[in-house]
Amino acid sequence: MVCFLTGLVAGCVLMFLIHNPTMEHEAPSPNPTVKSEVPSPNPTVKHESPSPNPTVKHEAPSPKQTLILMWLWPFGVKFDIDSCRSTRFDIDGCKLTDDRKMYNNADAVLFHHREIRSDLSNMPPSQRPPFQKWVWMNFEPPSNSPKIPGLRNLFNLTLNYRLDADITLLSGKFIPKKGNSSFPIPNKSKLVCWVVSNWKKGLQRVTYYEELIKHIHVDGFGHSFNKPIPSQGHLGVIKQCKFYLSFENSIHKDYMTEKLFNPLSVGTVPVVLGTSRQNYENFLPGDAFIHVDDFPSPKELAEHIRFLDKNEDAYRQYFNWHKHYEVQKFSSWAEHVCFTCDYIRKHKEYKVINDLDKWYWG
Ligand SMILES: *[C@@H]1O[C@H](CO)[C@@H](O)[C@H](O)[C@H]1NC(C)=O
Ligand SMILES: *[C@@H]1O[C@H](CO)[C@@H](O)[C@H](O)[C@H]1NC(C)=O
Ligand SMILES: *[C@@H]1O[C@H](CO)[C@@H](O)[C@H](O)[C@H]1NC(C)=O
Repeated sequence: MVCFLTGLVAGCVLMFLIHNPTMEHEAPSPNPTVKSEVPSPNPTVKHESPSPNPTVKHEAPSPKQTLILMWLWPFGVKFDIDSCRSTRFDIDGCKLTDDRKMYNNADAVLFHHREIRSDLSNMPPSQRPPFQKWVWMNFEPPSNSPKIPGLRNLFNLTLNYRLDADITLLSGKFIPKKGNSSFPIPNKSKLVCWVVSNWKKGLQRVTYYEELIKHIHVDGFGHSFNKPIPSQGHLGVIKQCKFYLSFENSIHKDYMTEKLFNPLSVGTVPVVLGTSRQNYENFLPGDAFIHVDDFPSPKELAEHIRFLDKNEDAYRQYFNWHKHYEVQKFSSWAEHVCFTCDYIRKHKEYKVINDLDKWYWG
């Protein structure tokens, strides 16, 4: 996920299951038998503890701090970590470190999958304290994650975009809106846009695009179109477009990235290509996006887009969700770590991930 790589933009948490949360049960849990808690179908419940009065909370004497040790930094890139108080999420009682001397005191140790050596030689050498949880951290889909033998019975928790991970984080989340302010749709100067840097012939999204442009004009940006835009300019470009092609580069259950949450956050309607519509609706309202599968072919999609371009009222329907929700995007890796810390503080039970291979790549 490029946004994580840059460390600027970000993945984000998705905590609100808007539609029928019970639908999402196909995937085998890595270890259903050992899991002692009832898995919550709604990731929100897992991390949230809305504080009615956050200011008072900070003054209270803090209980024992929870120590999180970053053993392997995502993609080897360090980010600022200290406590979680400065994040927008008001998570208290956490201390984050990458000082390996603290290993014996750490409540949880985080390992980013990409950096784990295939012979496990960069994993902690000493025995783990009985209270300590090892967290497998990965936001890349299986097709983009090296399969490493020997990960059986090693980790205690999974931190991933999948809903059936112990800690589920996506690039964005829908949160209930405060107040009743109406959402002004930004002025638009373009109809359909796409920003893409990784162009691979043969990818489903490229094939679809090539067919689509026979029927409708698409403004392309990014290296692939010889129109690079700086990462800060990204959202500004997307905002000018009525529709944005939120085409994922690989298709996996629950896998949706900033390609979806960026347009949603700036008032642009995403046209998604990725997992099924039903799966998307586990995460966001069904009328917030257009799915390519809603149409028999790119031609009909193009016709629908042209129809919406001429019918302001019909276009507006895609913004109805703004009455009830707003989108919040994650802004840094540190926020992911803080959510993990929050989870660790609230879940003390024993757990082992028996067969990570089967769960993720199986
Ligand atoms: C929001 O609610 C207030 C009080 O009920 C009302 O006066 C105002 O017109 C509402 N605004 C919108 C945009 O609906
Ligand atoms: C959109 O365009 C209209 C008319 O040109 C202008 O009055 C309005 O201020 C613009 N809105 C925004 C948010 O730029
Ligand atoms: C974590 O997993 C290890 C390895 O399977 C296991 O020995 C340990 O008891 C687990 N600890 C907790 C706190 O769940």
